[in-house]
Amino acid sequence: MNVLLIGSGGREHALAWKLSQSPRLTKLYAAPGNPGIAQHAEIVALDVNDPPAVVRFCEAEQIGLVVVGPEVPLVEGLVDELEAAQIPAFGPTKAAAQLEGSKAYTKELCATYDIPTARHRSFVEAAGAKAYVRQQGAPIVVKADGLAAGKGVVVAMTVAEAEEAIDMMFAGGLGLAGTNVVIEEFMTGEEVSYFCLVDGENVLPFGSAQDHKRAYEGDEGPNTGGMGAYSPAPVFTPDLEERVLKEIVHPTAQAMSALGNPFRGVLYAGLMLTPDGPKLVEYNVRFGDPECQVLMRRLQSDLLEILLATANGALGQAQAEWSDDPAITIVMATRGYPGDVDKGSEIRAVEAANAVEGVTVFQAGTKADGETLRAWGGRVLNVTASGKTLKEARERAYEAVDQVDWPEGFCRRDIGWRALASN
Ligand code: AMP
Ligand code: GLY
Repeated sequence: MNVLLIGSGGREHALAWKLSQSPRLTKLYAAPGNPGIAQHAEIVALDVNDPPAVVRFCEAEQIGLVVVGPEVPLVEGLVDELEAAQIPAFGPTKAAAQLEGSKAYTKELCATYDIPTARHRSFVEAAGAKAYVRQQGAPIVVKADGLAAGKGVVVAMTVAEAEEAIDMMFAGGLGLAGTNVVIEEFMTGEEVSYFCLVDGENVLPFGSAQDHKRAYEGDEGPNTGGMGAYSPAPVFTPDLEERVLKEIVHPTAQAMSALGNPFRGVLYAGLMLTPDGPKLVEYNVRFGDPECQVLMRRLQSDLLEILLATANGALGQAQAEWSDDPAITIVMATRGYPGDVDKGSEIRAVEAANAVEGVTVFQAGTKADGETLRAWGGRVLNVTASGKTLKEARERAYEAVDQVDWPEGFCRRDIGWRALASN
C-alpha cells in the first residue's frame, strides 16, 4: 500500500520510521517532510494547506492511507475532503477536531457528559471575564479558545495577572484564537499524557507518557512545545488507566458519536492527577511531539496496520504490543529557543549518536544543504533511546547527545527526573 504522511517534525520522523518497517508498505510519501523523514519517504512538493491538491496527489499515486501528523490541517478539515474523495485518512474530521480546536467546545462537552475536568466559564468579552476572575480569586487559568501554538494558556497566580491575560487575548494578542476566552479553576497534581486510538466506536489504549514543557532544568523557564519525554509514565498505574478510560475516554468517544461527530484518530488526553482523581486538562487530536517519538520506540506492532484499522472502523479486533523497555527522548534545540532563533548552524556527527546502542535520533527542524545538515528551527533533534530501565535509557540518550557536534544547540540534562526520583 502507498501511504502519504503529512507533517515535518520529529513526530512525523518517528511515524515515518515506524511506518517504513511495515510489511504492508509499498511506498511512503511525505509532505512537507524533513531530511530525517527523507530517509524513509519520498518527499513531495505538495501544499498541505490546499486540500484539493492533496486529493489529486492521492488519486494519482493511488494512496491507500493518509496519515495526518499536526493539528492545523485537521482543524481546517483536510480529512473531510479526503473522505469525500473516498481516500482513507488517519485523523479526525473538522467537526471532531474541535476537541482540540476549541477549548470551549471540549469544556461544554465535559459539562454535558459529566467528564471530570476543571470547573469553567466561557466569555466573549473582557468585562464579564474579569468580574468572574475577581469573584473566583487566584490562582486561576485563562485560556484562548482556539489554536494558539502552545501560547494560549496563562496560569495566573494573581488576579492582576489574569486580568492582563484577558485584556491581551481580547485585544487580539493571539489573533482569532482569543475571540472567545475560557476561565478555569486551577488544578494541582502530576500531569500525564495518555493516548488512545479511536475508530468512532472502539477505543484502543495506546500508551502513556510525560513530557517536560519548560525550557530549563528543574522545570523552570518559559513554556515550550516540549523539551523531552518518556514512556510509560510510572505514576499512571493500571488502576488509574482503567478509571480514565471509564470516566473520560469512553464517555468522550460515545458523546462524539451521539453528537454526530464520531472521532477517528488518536485522542491525546492531557490529564492532571489531582487529589480528587484524574481530570482532563485538555484534548489534542494528534500525537504529542515529542511524546510520539517515545511511543514509536516502544511499539512492537505494525503501525500501518493499526492506523489503517483506526481509519476503517476496524479497531475492534486490533491489538497493540509494546516493548517492556521504557523509552526516553531528549530534545536538542537551537540556543535561544523558545524565543526567536538563528537558522543555519551546522550539525555534525548525528550518525555517531545514532550508533549508540538503543538510540534513534529523530529530526525535527533540520534542513539538508548538500551533504551538510543544518538547524532550521527551534526544536531540532530528538535523541531517543530505550533501555531495560528508564535509567539505562536515559544514560544511552545522553551518551548519544554528547556525540552530537553542534555548539549552537542545547538540551535539558534532567529529562525524566520525576520518574527516576519516584523509583
Ligand atoms: P495546555 O496548553 O492546555 O496544555 O496547557 C498548558 C499547561 O498549562 C498544562 O500542561 C498545565 O500545566 C497548565 N494548565 C492548563 N490548565 C490548567 C488548570 N486548569 N490548572 C492548572 N494548570 C493548568
Ligand atoms: N508535547 C505536547 C504536545 O504535543 O502538545
